[in-house]
Amino acid sequence: MEPRDLILQRLARVRDPELGASITELGMVGEVRVVDRVAHVAVALTTASCPLRSDIERDVRDAVLEVEGVDEIVVSVGVLDPAAKAALMRTARSLAQARAPHTSIPRRAPIYMIASGKGGVGKSSMAANVAIAMAQTGLHVGVLDADIWGFSLARLLGVTGDVVVRDAKMAPLERRVGPGTIALLSMGHLADEKQALLWRGLMVQKAVAQFIEDADWSRIDVMVIDTPPGTGDIVMTLARLLPHMGQVVVTTPSRAAQHVAARAADFARKSHIRVLGVIENMSGFACECGKVHAPLGVGGGRELAGDLGVELLAKIPLRADVADGGDDGLPVAWHEDDEGPFHDLARRLLALAPSLVPAGCTARLLDALDEAVLDA
Ligand SMILES: Nc1ncnc2c1ncn2[C@@H]1O[C@H](COP(=O)(O)OP(=O)(O)OP(=O)(O)O)[C@@H](O)[C@H]1O
Ligand SMILES: [Mg+2]
Repeated sequence: MEPRDLILQRLARVRDPELGASITELGMVGEVRVVDRVAHVAVALTTASCPLRSDIERDVRDAVLEVEGVDEIVVSVGVLDPAAKAALMRTARSLAQARAPHTSIPRRAPIYMIASGKGGVGKSSMAANVAIAMAQTGLHVGVLDADIWGFSLARLLGVTGDVVVRDAKMAPLERRVGPGTIALLSMGHLADEKQALLWRGLMVQKAVAQFIEDADWSRIDVMVIDTPPGTGDIVMTLARLLPHMGQVVVTTPSRAAQHVAARAADFARKSHIRVLGVIENMSGFACECGKVHAPLGVGGGRELAGDLGVELLAKIPLRADVADGGDDGLPVAWHEDDEGPFHDLARRLLALAPSLVPAGCTARLLDALDEAVLDA
């Protein structure tokens, strides 16, 4: 074999630790030449500030110097262009999907993870209202409260009771919403809301994994996931288990939120999770005096959406009924008509579903195959 082919063979064993795949498979290796026993290897990273740059460079060096006929190596490190980066993310995503465990969530069901870099911006309120608005269109909406310590959706959605285990699977608790249904799993159904949960990280990740793997979500059409603030272990676990979900970032209108954008973008890169768009919550207060006040600033949502290169999906005003609805288990979207902001947001999110799931027939075929294999 030529030294060049041997080099490529060795490089196929070098992995990008964050993306969990080989750098050749991910398309990160450019030109490879050997001139006078000196190997010239071009490697392109997803970002110039890649924290793993020196690790990857070292692994490339070690791998290539093992090749007979090579005495020296010159590595040139560049950055992938946007098209190559998008292709790499697609590859990483499909590799992650191939590795993801089997769950009962139908493949045709899009999954929306509501997240933010900060606490208290309204993630849970947005998740609850979007779920209600989706259910009001007749859908069976699975709601996963992945905020294990700070669970709140059982109360927000007014879903009470204890989780029942059927055929060794937890059955989400259901509530009819007009022509549709919400089906919720939350620690709120397993633990007293006031009880302090002094759990360690591993147990928390296990709880999230159980909510996904050991639950019966087979009847749902769509899933909404509420998350704890930040991009810690729980959110990374969700990304590993459900790599095809889309992330919706909630922010306030404050423009001093650059760090939030950076965190969301960094998380999306590490986890290959697609960012679908931004919700600006607490966006102005319409006073009875006729004026709109902006106690939390203006423009933060649009700025964050611009930074992330995604759509601003909604601007939800500061409204007393959003907070009140949460207290009595009837989120404001419950009384809202078709034109209301949460119904509009739900429609926009559902319109993005095709980017999250395989097309109709393919998804149905894959679901049927899954069922056949499981029944066999
Ligand atoms: N648009 C709004 N208008 C008025 N109050 C709101 C609005 N959105 C959220 N709130 C209130 O703000 C508080 C925080 O909201 P919420 O619990 O939904 O945030 P969160 O991001 O889930 O918080 P955490 O990070 O603690 O989970 C709640 O009391 C909620 O009722
Ligand atoms: Mg919350």
